[in-house]
Amino acid sequence: MYRTHTNGELRLAHAGQEVTLCGWVQRSRDLGGMTFVDLRDRYGITQVVFNMETDAGLCAKARELGREYVIEVKGKVTERSSKNPKLPTGDIEIAASSLRVLNAAKTPPFTIEEHSDGGDELRMKYRYLDLRRDCVRKNLELRHRLGIEIRKYMDEAGFMEIETPFLVKSTPEGARDFVVPSRMNPGEFYALPQSPQQYKQLLMVAGMDRYFQIVRCFRDEDLRADRQPEFTQLDCEMAFVEQEDVLQMFEGLMRHLFKVEKGVDLPPFPRMGWQTAMDKYGSDKPDLRFGMEFTALKEVFPQGKFSVFDQSEWIGGIRVPGAAGYTRKQTDELTDFVKRPQVGANGLVYLKCLPEGGFKSSVDKFFSPAELEAVAQACGAKGGDLILILAGKAARTKVALGQLRLEMGSRLGLRDPFDYKVLWVVDFPLLEWDEEAGRYFAMHHPFTAPKPEDEPMLETEPGKVRANAYDMVINGVEVGGGSIRIHDHDLQRRMFNVLGFSNEEAQRQFGFLMNAFEYGAPPHGGLAFGFDRLCALFGGQDSIRDYIAFPKNNAGRDTMSESPSPISQAQLDELFLRTTAGEKGKSL
Ligand code: AMO
Repeated sequence: MYRTHTNGELRLAHAGQEVTLCGWVQRSRDLGGMTFVDLRDRYGITQVVFNMETDAGLCAKARELGREYVIEVKGKVTERSSKNPKLPTGDIEIAASSLRVLNAAKTPPFTIEEHSDGGDELRMKYRYLDLRRDCVRKNLELRHRLGIEIRKYMDEAGFMEIETPFLVKSTPEGARDFVVPSRMNPGEFYALPQSPQQYKQLLMVAGMDRYFQIVRCFRDEDLRADRQPEFTQLDCEMAFVEQEDVLQMFEGLMRHLFKVEKGVDLPPFPRMGWQTAMDKYGSDKPDLRFGMEFTALKEVFPQGKFSVFDQSEWIGGIRVPGAAGYTRKQTDELTDFVKRPQVGANGLVYLKCLPEGGFKSSVDKFFSPAELEAVAQACGAKGGDLILILAGKAARTKVALGQLRLEMGSRLGLRDPFDYKVLWVVDFPLLEWDEEAGRYFAMHHPFTAPKPEDEPMLETEPGKVRANAYDMVINGVEVGGGSIRIHDHDLQRRMFNVLGFSNEEAQRQFGFLMNAFEYGAPPHGGLAFGFDRLCALFGGQDSIRDYIAFPKNNAGRDTMSESPSPISQAQLDELFLRTTAGEKGKSL
């Protein structure tokens, strides 16, 4: 047995006991005749003391220890003369009687501390060292706990965890697939699943009734802080349910997780229609931690005064409380913000409601004080407030104003990561028109059912059909989404036709699902949560990377293992693949 206790375990009550501890040398200090070593493992840090007077040889050996050496120490638990209230083990130390170096270590390329001196890239390259840091390890512990709680809840609710394949058929809808060549079937490819969507629906046809899986999904899309090429979903499906049943079930799950992990009793989740979310917040995932809802101003500004407004399909404003004192520099910064290509507005109009009365505005030469007063009133502004206004094409401008709203929320410190505002966004459009492709795409996925009352418009006015779909949104993050599915073979075929698939093509791509629907598919629906996003939210952070043990960087690379990487000509030959000489992926 290497150790009797962990480094987080010993307290004053253990004083006098002979113990053996193992771990990594966090730091060591020589103070006169004593050498102090902080010994670290997953559970904590314990101070070990080597005394020159009692054992000079041992002390000399301790002085040789470098950072991150792996050691075994035997000694007696003693009460510390100067206690460290910051450490759970801070009342005691180990008076060492023996020291064994289990493994020497090179000096790590960055400090293994909460505030490390290593940059992102370096820490990713040595992720196994980064994972030794308390703050990163705690994220994985949180992830583990949430996973366990989810499994308990799902099991109690009668869900069965069933694994689905990772080598699946590539399908044209959705994000780009990662593909895997098949050696045994030359020229043919599997895809890695973007989600187990079709399999979970087949499990419903198979009568499994309630399925879940904590499962890896793969999408070859552009990466951001909340997106990884491989990520984990809590994927769920239920038979014989309507939308309300699904919402209730998973609202229950989320409330349970908040209760056990955070001790928070969440109020019932409000529901917001997609159109309302877009009209009031310019986003299908509104952050409800703060107000600043949009005021539509097209009808409030008089026509014929300012040509930009006259030509705009939509004008909207947000009231920023107490920001009338913004300087020219600050309003210029905001103008630059909205003009960034990611936001895409042409310019920003501001209206300062001065505390002493009156207005100062970037458009005060076009409008009279009374007209500006009417705008301020419409926005519910009072002296001291700032109104920010965007104008242009309705859909684009709402989204841009939504981004400005979030920016203002951040600037004003209104987005406390530990203040949780949860809601369901419902009634999404079923289809989205894609200008470039010149056709409709499923907004969620092609298996989502239309609202029964909208179904007759599927062929005549597809853009108006609403879906039986829902997203769970927490603090402006889409943590999960799902829908009631089409379970009728005929309706599924109609949906594929609207998406531009001929019957033959639909059969070729999705035949296995369509055929299954001919053998007694129950009404069913479900959803999937982004498990990494959920962990980051519970941890109060934006980036999901630190909640994944071995994540990829923004270029989709694992800089530690250096993947992706070229493969040998022999491997390529075996797979009947060719690369063009001189290209990056040139064979070795
Ligand atoms: P959807 O595509 O909305 O639905 O995905 C479900 C949830 O997964 C998370 N997510 C991601 N997390 C990290 N990195 C990514 N690249 C990424 N992409 C998505 C989000 C999202 O809400 N099969 C359907 C679900 C269903 O209908 O049941 C699906 O996959 O939090």
